[in-house]
Amino acid sequence: MYSEKVMDHFQNPRNVGEIPDASGVGTVGNAKCGDIMRIFLDIDEETKIIKDCKFKTFGCGAAVATSSMATELVKGKTIQEAMEVTNKAVMEALDGLPPVKVHCSLLAEEAIHAALWDYAQKHGITIEGLEKPKSDIHEGEEEAEDTY
Ligand code: FES
Repeated sequence: MYSEKVMDHFQNPRNVGEIPDASGVGTVGNAKCGDIMRIFLDIDEETKIIKDCKFKTFGCGAAVATSSMATELVKGKTIQEAMEVTNKAVMEALDGLPPVKVHCSLLAEEAIHAALWDYAQKHGITIEGLEKPKSDIHEGEEEAEDTY
């Protein structure tokens, strides 16, 4: 049911933890399953490159695996490049997720966006293509009811 990469990132998650004095922190949850993800970013002031990224996820195995892969993907990228780390990109990097678990990868995308949003707010900047993230990804998801 799960790819080897998903199992690997679930069993040996990369970048677990916190970054003290992080440049940006984003927390999102899904009220429906109760899972919560927090992402910490350390962004270089000059180059705007994400030097480090860590996560804490209280959630299902797919949420842990997608958080782990998402942190690996955004590390070393610029802010604008990190905006391209969508849930689809994370899923592809993990060789796919079962359809009922696709929403878990949305948590990772939203958590990255929330952390970038926090960074933008703190620095008074606008990040192209970034909209105010939802703190609960379940909002507005009603039509996708049958995917759970
Ligand atoms: Fe909620 Fe996976 S079941 S994030």
